[in-house]
Amino acid sequence: MTSQFKLENIVPWGRSFAEYQAMFGLTAEDLSGTILDCGGGPSSFNAEMTQRNHQVISCDPIYQFSASEIESRIQATYPVILQGLRDRADRFVWQDIKTPEQLGEVRLAAMQQFLADFPTGKQQSRYQVAQLPQLPFKDAQFSLALCSHLLFTYSEQLSLDFHRDAILEMLRLAPEVRVFPLVENFSGETSPYLQPLMQQLSARGYQVKIEQVDYEFQREGNQMLRICAV
Ligand SMILES: C[S@@+](CC[C@H](N)C(=O)[O-])C[C@H]1O[C@@H](n2cnc3c(N)ncnc32)[C@H](O)[C@@H]1O
Repeated sequence: MTSQFKLENIVPWGRSFAEYQAMFGLTAEDLSGTILDCGGGPSSFNAEMTQRNHQVISCDPIYQFSASEIESRIQATYPVILQGLRDRADRFVWQDIKTPEQLGEVRLAAMQQFLADFPTGKQQSRYQVAQLPQLPFKDAQFSLALCSHLLFTYSEQLSLDFHRDAILEMLRLAPEVRVFPLVENFSGETSPYLQPLMQQLSARGYQVKIEQVDYEFQREGNQMLRICAV
C-alpha cells in the first residue's frame, strides 16, 4: 500500500513540539506516557520529545523516503506554500507569527530539526513507515494517539469512512485519541465529517468531546477532538 504513496503528491510542512503542546493541550502527565503521532511528517515533535526523554513513535508513509529525498521535496514546495499563505493571508491569525516569511522560517527550523533526527530515529524505530487506516502496532501499545493536520484538514481528499476507520484504528492502539484541527485546509470551514463522526463514535460507546485549545493559526481552527474509551 505504501509503495503507491508518491512523494510528489505531498507538500511537507512540519510543526514544532511547542505547537503540538498547544494544539493538543499536552500536560506533563500526557507527556510521561507513550505517544503515537499519526501522520507525523516532517514535524520536529518526535525529535524534541526524544531530547526531553519522552517516549514517542511517529508513523507516516513519507518515512519510506530518505532524509535527502524529503529535504528536496521541502525545498521544491516551500516557495509554493509561502505564496499560498500570502494569497490567503486573511484566513490566518498573524499574532505570535507576524508574516508568511516569519512562519516559513519557523516551519523550516522545525523541518531541519526533523531531518537531522530522522536517520537515527528511523534506526531506533521512532519513525515508522505506516499509513492510516491500518497501522502495524499492538492493541493498547500507546497511552495517547495524536493526529495533527491530516484528518479533517483533508476532508476533500479523504472520505468519511476513511476518517472513521482511521480514528477506530487509533483507538485500538491507545485509550485516548486527539485530532487537531477540525477545520478543512482550503475552505477553512469546519469539516462536514465532524458531526457524523461524533455521532458514530458516541454510538460505539466512546466519549467524544470538542475542546478549545490555546492555539489558533487557521482562523477559528482552535479546537481539537478528544475521543476516549470509557
Ligand atoms: C500536513 S502534514 C502534517 C504533519 C505534522 N503532523 C504536523 O502537523 O506538522 C500531513 C502528513 O500526513 C501524512 N499522511 C498522508 N496520508 C497518510 C495516511 N494515510 N496515514 C498517515 N499519514 C498520512 C503525509 O505524508 C504528511 O506528512
